Amino acid sequence: MKIIRNIEQLRQELDGQTSIGFVPTMGFLHEGHASLLKQARQENDIVVLSIFVNPTQFGPNEDLDRYPRDAERDQALAEAAAVDYLFYPTNETMYPLDMARVTVRSGDDVLCGASRPGHFDGVLTVVSKLFNIVRPTRAYFGLKDAQQLALIEGYVADYFVPVEIRRCPIIRETDGLAKSSRNVYLSDLEREQAPGIQQALVQAKSWLDDGQPIEQVVEQTRALLQFEGTSIDYVEAVSYPALGPVTATTETILLAVAVQFQSARLIDNLLYTRG
Ligand code: PAJ
Repeated sequence: MKIIRNIEQLRQELDGQTSIGFVPTMGFLHEGHASLLKQARQENDIVVLSIFVNPTQFGPNEDLDRYPRDAERDQALAEAAAVDYLFYPTNETMYPLDMARVTVRSGDDVLCGASRPGHFDGVLTVVSKLFNIVRPTRAYFGLKDAQQLALIEGYVADYFVPVEIRRCPIIRETDGLAKSSRNVYLSDLEREQAPGIQQALVQAKSWLDDGQPIEQVVEQTRALLQFEGTSIDYVEAVSYPALGPVTATTETILLAVAVQFQSARLIDNLLYTRG
């Protein structure tokens, strides 16, 4: 595996490659990231992983400065996943002028977009930059961040970006908690409460299977997410991937939740296709 910090060098290395699978991340890698890398390895000749904690997607009071980092461990995981190139840029490399940014036009007025203003502008900006640097054949994103994935798909369609976006399933701990770099923030008690999020979503699925109306399912799910010492950021159902209101004709529903613990905000979701 080669570790590269410089755009020109990476481009030279990738020049002429037939298929490039790309996994963008912010590091502190876990099995969720590893599953994306595994799929990229299976489907492409070359696998590129990027690690960059992107400042423009963090709000002023968010966890940019204390976002967990462990370069050595990340490198070992990347080696184990048979990554060919680890792209590890600096802020100066990624934002040379910062004269232009991508803005979301629709789909960020709900879920995480509503509670984190400007977050998805930052995500699309950095993903756009990374796509232009790596020029991947396929790029891999997790359904853990389902709104992010839908907005990236929308960006790629609207800007005719020549890349295939691959959706990857949510990887969980054995007790159901969705893997996240932010899980390390949880106290022992919070770590015990956190699997309740997935349990609520499993329950929600059975209510949807029973044909219960979506508003009722949302309210009942909200009731299941009342953990001591936490607050609910949102419990919301939207159409997927359009991220609009759920109507009688909506085929796929995204039921997404965000729960604020003392020092971590955890998100999870259920993607439900009506039969
Ligand atoms: P990060 O949170 O590091 O996540 C990188 C990729 O890993 C995303 O596509 C995310 O959905 C996926 N992922 C994280 N946890 C997962 C899990 N438990 N199961 C499956 N996939 C999982 O998302 C970002 O970074 C950034 O916003 C980024 C796209 C890199 C732009 O800065």
